[in-house]
Amino acid sequence: MKTTVSVIKADIGSVAGHCVSHPVLLEKCDEVLGNALEAGIIEDYYISRCGDDIDLIMTHTKGELNEEVHKVAYDAFLQATEIARELKLYGAGQDLLSDTFSGNIKGMGPGIAEMEFEERPSNPVIVYCCDKTEPGAFNLPIYKMFADPFNTAGLVIDPKMHDGFDFEVYDVIENKKVMLSCPEEIYDLLALIGSTGRYVIKNVFTKDGDIAATVSTERLNLMAGEYVGKDDPAAIVRAQSGFPSAGECNEAFAFPHMVSGWMRGSHNGPLMPVSEEYANPVRFDGPARVIGLGFQVSDAKLIGPVDIFDDPAYDETRQLASRAATYIRRHGPFEPHRLPSEEMEYTSLPGVMEKLEPRFEDMDD
Ligand code: F6R
Ligand code: MG
Ligand code: MG
Repeated sequence: MKTTVSVIKADIGSVAGHCVSHPVLLEKCDEVLGNALEAGIIEDYYISRCGDDIDLIMTHTKGELNEEVHKVAYDAFLQATEIARELKLYGAGQDLLSDTFSGNIKGMGPGIAEMEFEERPSNPVIVYCCDKTEPGAFNLPIYKMFADPFNTAGLVIDPKMHDGFDFEVYDVIENKKVMLSCPEEIYDLLALIGSTGRYVIKNVFTKDGDIAATVSTERLNLMAGEYVGKDDPAAIVRAQSGFPSAGECNEAFAFPHMVSGWMRGSHNGPLMPVSEEYANPVRFDGPARVIGLGFQVSDAKLIGPVDIFDDPAYDETRQLASRAATYIRRHGPFEPHRLPSEEMEYTSLPGVMEKLEPRFEDMDD
């Protein structure tokens, strides 16, 4: 019997502004998932939040894109949305783009990261959840975990990892995908995934085809056709015994790299790893946050979690992130803090151009 880990996440309303999911929304999700557990639809669950995004972490034996499991997540978000509307929370129902469920939650707004695997004697799994950024924010850390020997010692010294991993990359603009084998094709992989707004790592596999990591790659704004908040991705990573160790996975977040998102989904800034308690993007609606939740998956039950970044070893990362935030903030409306106009989610540029159009003159030379 295979076990599936499903992480389905959405922002359905927050306090104050786009900051923190209200606890009553989490309580409602807990009630809906609790009922699903009793009904035998799911085997176990854990609910967390990063900023204004609720992350439903569920285990079951029904495989990926399962209608019943997705319906549980949809119902939880729908019922929590009703409360969010009553409380006039900010952005109530924001990520539920449709009020009719058909088949699965794909394309309806929420982000989905799911993986099905045969349980080994022991199954460490880490779930990472972000707020105020996009799926491409995971490109750099996932690359480091599975392809960079300066991050992951096991690539060099563990015979089980020495062959490397295969990376499945999505082109989220053209809706195409490509599989690249590493270390052989590392340079080709980097040529793509350095463009974080377009090429995103969706899955990583062992060379035997076993799933190692998966990322929610839904681009909410592309789905909605207008700005409705950043995608705020989640990722599931398997660790140990042939996969990177838990510590090698977590090490990939020790450098607070620059990601797109932050204020109005239109700014570059550092990704700050924090504990669940501190996943509150308050400064200029950020900076972007990531939390890590470490579980052992055992007979489709979730043992844990450990709140990974609730650790003084990450204080220096957070300080560097804060300093980088201050540094880049001083650029105000200038690139590279503000995203290039083509990538901006909100833009007043067309209006400004229209207004100034009659005043633009040809230059003499
Ligand atoms: C970023 C985000 C926030 C909002 C900002 C403005 O993803 O959610 O930075 O973009 O708070 O929000 P509105 O336009 O709703 O006032
Ligand atoms: Mg939001
Ligand atoms: Mg969010």
